[in-house]
Amino acid sequence: MDKAYFINESLRQNRFWTQIMSEHALFIREGLPCTEIALIEEARQLEQLFANLKARADQTPREQAAVCALNQEVIQALGRIIEFKTFVLKRMITCSLGGFNYPLLMDHIRREAIRFRVNLLKLNNNIQTPLAELALEEEIFWLRIMGDHAWFIAHLLDPSERPLVQRASEFGEKFETLRLQGEDLQSMLVPRDYENHLLPASLMGGPLPPGFGNLKEPFVIPRLQRFNGEVIEATMGIRDFKAVALQLVETCKVLSLISPLLASHVLREAEMALADLERVERELNTMK
Ligand SMILES: [Fe+2]
Ligand SMILES: [Fe+2]
Repeated sequence: MDKAYFINESLRQNRFWTQIMSEHALFIREGLPCTEIALIEEARQLEQLFANLKARADQTPREQAAVCALNQEVIQALGRIIEFKTFVLKRMITCSLGGFNYPLLMDHIRREAIRFRVNLLKLNNNIQTPLAELALEEEIFWLRIMGDHAWFIAHLLDPSERPLVQRASEFGEKFETLRLQGEDLQSMLVPRDYENHLLPASLMGGPLPPGFGNLKEPFVIPRLQRFNGEVIEATMGIRDFKAVALQLVETCKVLSLISPLLASHVLREAEMALADLERVERELNTMK
């Protein structure tokens, strides 16, 4: 991995996702029952911790050692917020915690945190994923995130906003269809990913008995390039829809449970999705 790439990519990841993590802590806190004082306090601390890391990321010089140390510190903090999200989610889905966050939202923001941590660990340990595999992982990750956003918007709009609820649901369905297509392409082009997911999660990361992992290397086909274009197009569509939603929320022209910060949060994530997918597109184009 070249040094400039390591520095640029680390800073790009940190400057975006630390702010997102801080906002997640705020969303969790606002959705907790007001009697859960200890959880509210932990959420408050995490919000501050990631706000500080965002400020630090903005000031980190473009120098390898400083960037590596920043990554290391953010990886540590991510361990803490992932544990917190896991604890809150488990209590929610076992009906021992009420409040106003959806369980799928908690799972969604934990997925975002887990992927951010994987990205930093890959950078700090010089791990590169083959292009076809990377393309599909990025596409499937973002398709699921964009689909979740669509359903969150549909479920947080006031039921009286019928046409907007319907448009949001149509986006949800569109992203689900694309994600299924992504999974079809994934088992065609990256059969090892398919095999791995059949293994018990506890075996992953360790050495596997002979017979595993001898499937062919992933490869790029023209259909994958076309698919990436389709994912970008759908993401641009929901990005524009979210931009309109943010406007409506900010000007108090829509009835919903969506705060201006949440509307802006999902819009910024769509912009990040496009940035990631366009990087994949550039890489795929060099294969032509
Ligand atoms: Fe998020
Ligand atoms: Fe999200």
